[in-house]
Amino acid sequence: MTGPSDVPLKVALLGCGTVGSAVLRLLSEQAADLTARIGRPVEVAGVAVRRPDRHPDVPAELLTTDAHALVRRPDVDRVVEVLGGIEPARSLLLAAMAAGKSVVSANKALLADDGVALHTAAADAGVDLYYEAAVAGAIPLLRPLRESLAGDQLRRVVGIVNGTTNYILSSMVETGAGFGEALAEATEAGYAEADPTADVDGFDAAAKAAILASLAFHSAVHASDVYREGISAVSATDVARAAEIGCTVKLLAICERVPGANGAGDSIAVRVHPAMIPTSHPLAAVNGAFNAVFVEAEAAGQLMFYGQGAGGGPTASAVLGDLVAVARNRVAGVAGPNATGYAALPTRPMAETPTRYHVSLDVADKPGVLATVAQEFAAQGVSIATVRQDGHGDAATLVIVTHQAPDAALAATVERLRGMAAVRGVTSVLRVEGLT
Ligand code: HSE
Repeated sequence: MTGPSDVPLKVALLGCGTVGSAVLRLLSEQAADLTARIGRPVEVAGVAVRRPDRHPDVPAELLTTDAHALVRRPDVDRVVEVLGGIEPARSLLLAAMAAGKSVVSANKALLADDGVALHTAAADAGVDLYYEAAVAGAIPLLRPLRESLAGDQLRRVVGIVNGTTNYILSSMVETGAGFGEALAEATEAGYAEADPTADVDGFDAAAKAAILASLAFHSAVHASDVYREGISAVSATDVARAAEIGCTVKLLAICERVPGANGAGDSIAVRVHPAMIPTSHPLAAVNGAFNAVFVEAEAAGQLMFYGQGAGGGPTASAVLGDLVAVARNRVAGVAGPNATGYAALPTRPMAETPTRYHVSLDVADKPGVLATVAQEFAAQGVSIATVRQDGHGDAATLVIVTHQAPDAALAATVERLRGMAAVRGVTSVLRVEGLT
């Protein structure tokens, strides 16, 4: 047990880009408050970077290119990793924990790829592994899932966890633009990277979904377990059709516990894809680059967490929050709660996951067309919830929203519809979430 003292807790910072520099700034600006909150001063022991000459604002004596030596230094108490990527971050964190140092990481790719090994290393070493900044930037979310909701049973976690895609989709809804035009505008405005693949194709959101699902359901979920579709196929027609049925289009990260049928145990389904959601849903009001996560729990009911999911300041706020938590644990001589994987629920394949579809079709306005279309749904065991027809001349648009069915049955239905003589075109297909 180490009591309040003037002896500083020494922190090694790995990486000094946008987030790392903001962490250094906040550590300096808030030094007195942090000391009071922790019970001991926090001091930066060293900053590992690749190119020291690119960091003129950091005192030269703190800079090092030898991150491995820094994390092993006996005077370093805590390690903060904001490097990103898998290696060398993984080896550095494992080395730090093996040396008895708690770590704070903002590294979603690493946690989603290798969370189990990292948590095992933390448990074996009796140290803390906190990574609030890895999902949804400033929004306190992982510790609420890990700690505040630890007495509850979670049913679903549905989030808008990628600001770039939310910015693009919000602008498509607002202006009626297509995906390409909205992406170009987002790039121009600095909201999309020069290579937007990780965001636009859903990789970033899938990594975050894996982390959320692991914590929410006490089970190991890897990024590769997450079904993923990005937003590049979302069209202006999809957005317009959504508006016609009182919905908007969002890229959702959905983590849910699916009850087992016929004596089978529960499983978890984790997916990232664009979906229509009702404009009355709290997530529909989350626009621009903001993130939000909607949680449904047995006892707590519905909760929503909202805020800035990226950027130096917001992400550094989450890192500092974790740093204060692990530093307090150090002062108290304890380790904080580790994530648990005791439930070990299996991940359900997307094909078997229950979803609902919205399908818009251009058809001939003739007797029997609706019946033959409906028959394709029935043939796949898919129940139709609503049908709307808008006629124009000998042509008509059919807008169909289904009840829940296994995703594979819905996808097979759409494929059959594409091949039907009576169907001139399938003009919009999107999953629907949150409709009653
Ligand atoms: N690129 C991410 C986003 C932020 O657009 O939300 C970092 O996870």
